[in-house]
Order: sequence, then C-alpha cells, then structure tokens
Amino acid sequence: MKEDSSVRPNGITFTLKDITTVVDDFYGRIQLDPVLSVPFQSVHDWPEHIKKLSHFWWIRLGGKPYMFSDYNPVPKHYFAGFNDELLKHWLLLFHATLQQHLNSEQSALWKELSEQMGQGLSLRNELFRKHHESTSK
Ligand code: HEM
Repeated sequence: MKEDSSVRPNGITFTLKDITTVVDDFYGRIQLDPVLSVPFQSVHDWPEHIKKLSHFWWIRLGGKPYMFSDYNPVPKHYFAGFNDELLKHWLLLFHATLQQHLNSEQSALWKELSEQMGQGLSLRNELFRKHHESTSK
C-alpha cells in the first residue's frame, strides 16, 4: 500500500503516511512512559506491533484491509491489566500525539473515534472479566 493512499471519513482526508506517523510516534512515547510502558512489556516486536496497529487504524478510519490481520483485543487487553485509569492515561498520550502531527479537523475526528473505542474496550473488558472469573474458579 502506497504512503499517499488515503481515506476520507466524514470528508476529512488521512493519508496512510498520516496514520503510520501517528502510530509510530505514539508507541515511541508509550515505551518511554513510566506508567504505560509496564503493561506494554508484553510487546517484544515493536516494528511488528506498529505495523499491525497502523493497519488497525487505517481500517477503523475506513480503509480497505491491505495485510492479513487477526485482531483479538479483548483477552489481550484483559491479560495486559487494562483498566479505566490506564485507559485515561493512554487517551491523554494519544491525543497529544494526534495534535502534534495532524491538523485540527483530523485530530478532532480521530480523538472522538479513540474515545469511542476506549469506551467499547472498557465495557467489553468488564464482560470478559465476569466471564473469566466465573469460569476460572
Ligand atoms: C482506545 C484505546 C485502545 C485501543 C483502540 C487499543 C487497541 C489495541 C489493538 C487493536 C491491539 C492489537 C490487539 C491484537 O493483536 O489482537 C492492542 C494491543 C495492545 N494494547 Fe491496546 N488499545 C487501547 C488501549 C490500551 C490500554 C489502555 C492499554 C493498557 C493496558 C493497552 C495495552 C495493550 C497491549 C499491552 C497490547 C499488546 C498485546 C499483545 O500483543 O501482547 N491498550 N491495542
């Protein structure tokens, strides 16, 4: 997929390069963050993680898949210790990264999407917890 390929959610253009730049910088910040670097110790191949997450956001922003991907985020987040406090911190860092690289329209849309996904993950994390706790006794 070419770097100048683009998607236009709500009429706002994002190139693939915009997406990879944000994701790349964000996970650089994660690795330096005293709080968030801890759950992310499970990631051993950062270039692979960044490739996977760039593709993830490309799809979420309306692009067509361009690589094989097999996302299974709920158990992965649960076992990484996902909680609302970490999510708040994750979102703050993510939004600061968006603002650094994108224009205000792009930032606002991606911010909104990340907040919705964070809420979705949080709900699904609680459902997974209940299920996991009731079946692992
Ligand atoms: C809006 C918020 C978030 C989104 C959209 C998001 C999205 C994702 C996605 C799509 C993956 C790849 C999952 C897969 O390979 O199946 C992932 C991996 C991961 N996320 Fe998140 N995440 C969010 C917040 C967080 C938070 C708050 C934490 C803190 C615990 C976290 C920790 C991780 C870790 C450790 C992995 C790597 C799992 C592994 O491959 O071992 N994420 N995330």
